[in-house]
Formats: sequence, structure tokens, C-alpha cells
Amino acid sequence: MMADVKALVAKMTLEEKAAMCSGADFWHTESVERLGIPASMVSDGPHGLRKQDLAADHLGVNESIKAVCFPAGCGTAASFNRELITRMGEALGEECQAEGVSVILGPAVNIKRSPLCGRNFEYYSEDPFVAGEIAAAHITGVQSRKVGTSIKHFLANNQETRRMSATSEAEERTLREIYMPAFEIAVKKAKPWTVMCSYNKINGVYAAENHKYLTDVLRGEWGFDGYVMSDWGAVNDRVADLKAGLDLEMPSSGGAYDARIIEAVKNGSLEEAVLDQAVERILNIVYRFEENRDTEAVFDRDLHDALAREVAEETIVLLKNEGVLPLKEEQKAVFIGKYAKEPRYQGGGSSHINSSRITSALSMAAGNPNVVYAQGFEDDKDVINDTLIQEAVQAAKEADVAVIFAGLPDAFESEGFDRTHMRMPECQNVLIHEVAKVQPNTVVVLHNGSPVEMPWEQEVKGIVEAYLGGQAVGAAEYDILYGKVNPSAKLAETFPMRLEDNPSYLDFAGDEDRVVYREGVFVGYRYYDKKQMEVLFPFGHGLSYTEFAYSNLRLNAHSMRETDTLEVLVDVTNTGKLAGKEVVQLYVEDKESTMPRPVKELKGFDKVFLEPGETRTVSFALDQRAFAYYNEEVQDWCVESGEFGILIGASSRDIRLQDTVMVEAERPKKKYTLDSTFGDVKADPKAYACAREIMDAYEKQCLGDNEGDAGAEAISREMQEAMTRYMPLRGVLSFSEITTIDELERIVDEMNR
Ligand code: BGC
Repeated sequence: MMADVKALVAKMTLEEKAAMCSGADFWHTESVERLGIPASMVSDGPHGLRKQDLAADHLGVNESIKAVCFPAGCGTAASFNRELITRMGEALGEECQAEGVSVILGPAVNIKRSPLCGRNFEYYSEDPFVAGEIAAAHITGVQSRKVGTSIKHFLANNQETRRMSATSEAEERTLREIYMPAFEIAVKKAKPWTVMCSYNKINGVYAAENHKYLTDVLRGEWGFDGYVMSDWGAVNDRVADLKAGLDLEMPSSGGAYDARIIEAVKNGSLEEAVLDQAVERILNIVYRFEENRDTEAVFDRDLHDALAREVAEETIVLLKNEGVLPLKEEQKAVFIGKYAKEPRYQGGGSSHINSSRITSALSMAAGNPNVVYAQGFEDDKDVINDTLIQEAVQAAKEADVAVIFAGLPDAFESEGFDRTHMRMPECQNVLIHEVAKVQPNTVVVLHNGSPVEMPWEQEVKGIVEAYLGGQAVGAAEYDILYGKVNPSAKLAETFPMRLEDNPSYLDFAGDEDRVVYREGVFVGYRYYDKKQMEVLFPFGHGLSYTEFAYSNLRLNAHSMRETDTLEVLVDVTNTGKLAGKEVVQLYVEDKESTMPRPVKELKGFDKVFLEPGETRTVSFALDQRAFAYYNEEVQDWCVESGEFGILIGASSRDIRLQDTVMVEAERPKKKYTLDSTFGDVKADPKAYACAREIMDAYEKQCLGDNEGDAGAEAISREMQEAMTRYMPLRGVLSFSEITTIDELERIVDEMNR
């Protein structure tokens, strides 16, 4: 029977309702025994279940139950595989059902503004489209098991430095185009049961008390209908938060804020209906879980471990391969580096999982007599250990190939603090240089949650980015190194040459409590492309052991109205000798924008499996948003009429095919006034049609005036046009007599229709 939540709320006392709006303890919502309302447990997330039975904390310090640790967000995004991530979500949902957890906290979709953010390993991408699509896939999977998710951290939480007090200062266009769409896509497509607001302020207002984003946008524009919970300790003013749309405070403030809520209702500064609504939203979700509770549920750890391995196989990116990979089992190989034996496979903080099993690449090599091991470095401190290096160099000399399992130690990146540089430990860089000097066939396998500088990039023949690949990462690494699995992941972020190249470099991580997002929408490849900068590895890059050819790009139209849908088809063929998967990427380029826009933006991707010789057609559908930018003036998404490029690539810097489409805007992109310039009016064919007669007449008159004037002979029509581009329409009144103010106002009205 469905609980009648409204009737329950009506029976609750003011005190009970106030108490319901914060946690009973670190992980549970309140219960009300006399009404039979049960407590409900929530737990971290995102890539495994961190259910704490005993001492609780939000930084992964105390023990949690054993669970399966899947690859972290940095890797899952690189899979570009929606179906796979949905299956991972299903597994997480099953573990939650078995453990009685109603909501698993995640996915974490904040944009990677800087490679330094300590929590990048948990986040998906520098690109909001990938982040949103992968998040939607994850949420769909978890929630198919009748367990909720909490997409986090809403909004603009892109660093750990001062995360509980800083204000992220960004223009509305930047927020709408870069920092919000991952949430927007996931909320619209996958309907998460809950949303977690972030700690920080957004343009001066705490996320927890931000009515604009928590209510107007999230619920009003995107249709979110679950409850919003605070990040742990993100509440500043509980009454203001309730009014803004924050339903559940986590964990609790020991009753301090309950008293404030009660007082506010009593003195009339908070309408009781606002409190009722928050309680109703919380209880709706509590009962959604309760009524779908599978009390018999168990999960199969081995099956989930096998799935963690499958996910890891698709999250490992082959960055470089100069004929060295795959290895052959008969080759004499030395596995160097601590992470061959003890892989770094997850990050520190609230997402830290008590893994049920850990597989290392070295343990996979147990049956292979041709593999030897040398430790090479220590990772508890960055000290060059000559003995370990010499041992590794000697072993490398004696082998046919050296594989160095390197990366960032735990102390280098974690929730709670940001990195201060993008370097790997010096002891590892030295080790790689030294090994590469004696062994031409050197491969580096990296374990890190965010890009690193690679001063040895030219010295080695192979680079494998294993990210933080979860508990089965070693198995996936081994199978990729030996060609049992064909790598198919692609970078969901750019690896810049050096930290200084990153667009946020000049002001990351802000000036005390103020972080200005000065680079605006130019985040990640949007910046490197615009600046035509060389990067170490571009967004979307990832190699395979086979080759793919792209052909036969087809658009269903070459001109369309913005309300139409453009259908794009492209054929992809596996021209190599091995079966493999390719991530086909579609970017849109606004060729004629009057706005500062990125060169191109990812608007579609698909991952296809192809046997050797096989061809498949990949299809995409592009709607208005694929062409639009956020127009602050009209506070809406707008398309500028003109030509757009449709680019199909194997990476953002490897565009294989392209075509163009003319898109015609339906609505004015701005509100026209007498101050609107000739140039802006001309850029909008509809507006121009209204004012054309007068504008042409004016320009003709200007040119005419110049005729016969010796000094002005050089003024061509183009120059004249360039000079009037910035002239407001009202200038026609000042410098000519070709129209009247009434007529001009009538035209402007028509332009706005
Ligand atoms: C983190 C959240 C996490 C919560 C509970 C916070 O510190 O920011 O992501 O879900 O703790 O552990």
C-alpha cells in the first residue's frame, strides 16, 4: 500500500517536522515511531558503497563494510559507454538493496576547471555533455534497483581549497553552458531521487540558500521532484535554506537548527507550508525506498568484481603506443614500480571504499615465468632511492621490455585539498628517465585521478592511463598490456603540456574566499582549441590495437530551422585485424557567431563494437540546444542564424569528416532598442529585414556624401560598412533625415516581434 505522505505530514507536530529536516545521525533520516515513519539510510558513493556501521565520518577515515570498488569517475567517463555505466549503477543499486541503503551519494559531476582540484578523480570531465550523459547512465542503473541517487555537488564546486566558505564567481552564461548542464542533463533524463547542494557560495550566496538554483532552476526549469540534501555541514542559515529549497540538512546540527525552524514558524518569519513541503519531499523518497525494499536482496561479490574488471577494461586509455604494445607473453618483461604490486586504484575521502578484493597486475602475471618485478620507488615519501632505481635499471637491461607502474601517491591528491602542482613525484620521474635510458621498449602505466606533466613522454614508447581503476584494475591492466583486451577508452579531459597552460592557472584557487571564473566558458579543450595551443594529449584521445575508418557522413538537411532536429549518420569501419570498440565523437562549430564562442563543442558520442572488417552506421540527433549559447540578455538559450559545422572525430584534435548546415533562428536573440547597432541587426536576418530599407538608405547616403570628396575616395563600401557596424540605430536621426523617431520606434517594435 502506498503511504499517504500528505496525511502523515498533517499528523506531525511542528517539532517532529522540524526534526525531520535534518539527519537523525550521520547517515540516517529521522524516524517518528508513533506514526510508524521509518528512518532511512544514505551512504557514499559514488563508485562503491561506503556504508559505515560503526564510527561515522565524511572523509573515509573510519572503516566501512566490505563492498566492491568500481573505477572512479575520472575513469568511468573515459569509457564513454553509457550502457556499461548503467550496468555498474545496477550493481551499486543491488549492493544498496542488500544493505538497506535508500540513497547512494553520487554521482559527482562537477566540472574539471583545473587539473589541480583534489577531487577531480571523482569527477567526470571538463566537458558538461559527457559528464551529464555518464551521470544519467549511472543514475538510471542505480535507480532501476529502486534505490535513489544524490547527484552532487550542486553547484560550481570546482576546488577543495576553502570549499566550505569560498564564493565561485561566474557569469550566468558560464554557469549555464559549463557548470550546470551535467546536472541539467541528468535531472531531465534520469530523474535522480535527490540532489546534494555544494558547500560553496555561488556569486556570493551559499548553494544551500540559493533559491535561484535550488528552486527556480532545479525544480522550476528542470522539473526535479525529489528532495535536496545539504553536503555534510553545508548549512549556514537553516531557515533561509528551507525557504530556498533545501529540504534535508545532513548530518544535523545537534538540534540547534531545529529550534530555529520552530521559532521561525512561531514568529511568522517562516510559513509552515514551506516546512510541510520539505517534509513531504523527504518522506516521499523515504517511502519510495521502503515500499520497494527487497528485504531478501543479496548480491554476488564475484559477479560485481567481474563487472568492476569489465568497467576497468573500458576506462583505461592507451595514450601512446609506438609499436611496443601489446606485449607477448614470451617476451622477458620487468614490471617496475610499487603500483604493479599494490595498485593505487581509488582516491581518498568520502568515496573511499573498503574493497572486497584487490587485483594487481603482478598477481595476474603469477603464471607467466617471463615477468620479474622491481619496486623502483617508494610512495610514502618523495625521496630518490638509488638502490631501488639501480635494481630496476639492471632488471630493465636484462629484459625485452620494461613496464613502469607509476602515478600519484595518495598524499598527492584527495578530497579535502587541492594539488599545488601537476608533477609526479620526482623519484618516479627520475626512475622513468633512468629506465628509458637503458631499455628502448619502456611503457609507463599511470595511476592518477587527474592529469600529470610527463617530462619523459618522448623517452618512452608506450603510455597507458589507468586512472584510479577500482579493485580489479590490475586484471584489466594486464589484459590490455598483453592484448587480451583491446583498449577503447578516450580522455574525457585534456592533458595540457604544463600546468601554466591551463585556463584557470592565473587565479586557481582564488583570492582567499573569492574565486573568479575569469576564463568564462573557455574551460578545457574549449580554451586550448581557441588558443590553438599544443597539448600533451587532447580531449577525446585514446588509441586502440586496431584501426577505424570513417566514411559517408550524411545530414538529413543542409538548412534547417532551429526548432527542427538534424539527423547525422556516419559509417565507421574496423579496418584492422582485431575486434575493437571506437568512441565516435560529434562536435558542433558555430562558424558565424557574433559571440565569443568555443571553436567547437561536443554534442554527441557513441561507442560501437566492430569485428575486423565490419562497418556500422552511427546516428546522432541534434536539437536546438546543440547549436545554442546562453544569452544573458534574454535569459534563455539562443541560436544565431548562420552556418554551423558538423564535425565527426576520433578525438577533438582528430576530426575525420565534416559538413555544414545553415540554421535559421526563430526568435530574436536579443531585445532590440534604438541603441542596437547596425552590426547586431545585420547579424539577425529577421531583424535586418525590418530595418533594412532605412539602414541601406543611410549607408548609401554616407557613401554618396563621400563621392567626389578627394579625401574620402579611399573609403570603399566595405570600409563604410565596417564603420557603421557599431553605430546605434538612433544615429540615423542624428546624421541624416531619412526617417523619423516614430518610424524608427515602429521598426524596433517590429524587430522584437
Ligand atoms: C562530501 C560529499 C559526501 C559527504 C558524506 C562530504 O564531505 O563532500 O561528497 O557525500 O561528505 O560523506
